[in-house]
Order: sequence, then C-alpha cells, then structure tokens
Amino acid sequence: MFATIAGRYDLLNHLLSGNIDKRWRRMVATTLGGTLADRDAVVLDVACGTGDLSLALFESGEARIVGIDFCRPMLDIAATKVSKSGSLLPLVEGDALALPFVDRSFEAATIAFGLRNLTSVEAGVKELLRVLKPGGRVAILEFSKPRTPFLGSLFKIYFTRLLPLFGGLISGSKSAYQYLPDSVLRFPDQIELSKLITQVGFEDVTFRNLTGGIAALHVGTRPIDS
Ligand SMILES: C[S@@+](CC[C@H](N)C(=O)[O-])C[C@H]1O[C@@H](n2cnc3c(N)ncnc32)[C@H](O)[C@@H]1O
Repeated sequence: MFATIAGRYDLLNHLLSGNIDKRWRRMVATTLGGTLADRDAVVLDVACGTGDLSLALFESGEARIVGIDFCRPMLDIAATKVSKSGSLLPLVEGDALALPFVDRSFEAATIAFGLRNLTSVEAGVKELLRVLKPGGRVAILEFSKPRTPFLGSLFKIYFTRLLPLFGGLISGSKSAYQYLPDSVLRFPDQIELSKLITQVGFEDVTFRNLTGGIAALHVGTRPIDS
C-alpha cells in the first residue's frame, strides 16, 4: 500500500493536514532535544517512510540518526531528500517487528505514524524497547483521540469522508486513504497506549496532546536497571 502512494505521500501529508504534520514532527525533535544535542548519541527512526522525521531529528542537533522502513519506494524518496539536503543519514530497509540491530544499540528511538500500521502494536513497542540502551528514550507520534466531542465529530467527518475522497483522487489509491481512518479509529487512545507502553516495560511514560488530541506524542524511558 505504501509503495503505491509513495510518490504522492509527502504532498498529501502536507496538504491534508494543512502543514500541521511538520509542526508535530518538530515537536518530537524538541522533546528529544537533550539526546539530540549529544554528538555521541545514535537515534533510530523506525518506519521512517520518506524521511521527514529523520531529517527533522538530524537538523535539530548533533546526534547520529538512522532511518529504517520496510517499503523501498518510500525509502527511495527519503534517500533523494537526504542526498539533496547533504545530510549524513543512513537509511536501512527492514521490518519494525524484527529490527536488524542488536539489543541496547540506541540512545533514543522514534516512530511517527508507523505504530498504527504494524500487525502488532505491542510487538512493535517491545522491539523499540529491545534496541534501546538502558536509560534510552522512546518517542511515539501517532493519531489519537480528539479531546472534545465537538472536535471529535469534526475530525471524524473530515477523516472518514473528505480525506478518503481527496486522498484517493490525488494519490490514485482510494483504498489507502480509506485504510487511514479505519486504522486510526482502531488504534488505542492516549490512555490505552500509555498503559500498553508501560506494560511492555517502559517507565516514566507521559503523553502530550497535539492539536487538541488529533495526534499525541508519547514518551517513555527504558529503565536503567533493565
Ligand atoms: C504513515 S507512514 C509514516 C512515515 C513517516 N514516519 C512519517 O512521519 O511520515 C508509515 C510508514 O510505516 C512503514 N511501515 C509499516 N509497517 C512497517 C514495518 N513492519 N516495518 C517497517 N516499516 C513499516 C510504511 O512503509 C510507511 O513508510
């Protein structure tokens, strides 16, 4: 599905979100500011897609960033952007559910709008925990549940009616933009996701609502003694 829409993915992201998606990704970089400032740190961006978050992380500090995704056409677009920006940012083709890295490799790990697409959210979070060093931080950016019923109703109409229509027309793949609202509605809300991240083994799990809860940014830490 992502291979089919790769060519139009960035355009649609920015268009359908009114560019808010860029602000959300910058928020991830700000949240991980301390780690990104460390030139010895290595940060893994899982399900990096066309590389927007990987590049935002790279541009926000001194840390080394590695992007990984299992969809080659998305990675090809990321590679073009990385090369145009002159960034030194390795991109790896691989599965978020079986990351090709040994345990305790990274100071931080991120996943933006990727967790919802995995066949098991829990297995995805477990993999993030496994590859983090003790004390390492995870940042998960994902669509979530709007905080007020009014915003929730507006969001539902936009997401289930307008977005599949425009997304389908522009990308040429109606099913991909039908899948998007379906996958968001199935995904755990802020509280449920916090519980899941904690159950998997992260500590100090907190979240921040973005744009009234349309998206949420969850962060957690791998315990030092784990
Ligand atoms: C909605 S895009 C998000 C891309 C990017 N993180 C962003 O913020 O725009 C979801 C990405 O998850 C990737 N993905 C889905 N399942 C995956 C898996 N099991 N392993 C690796 N990547 C996966 C897709 O290929 C796609 O690039």
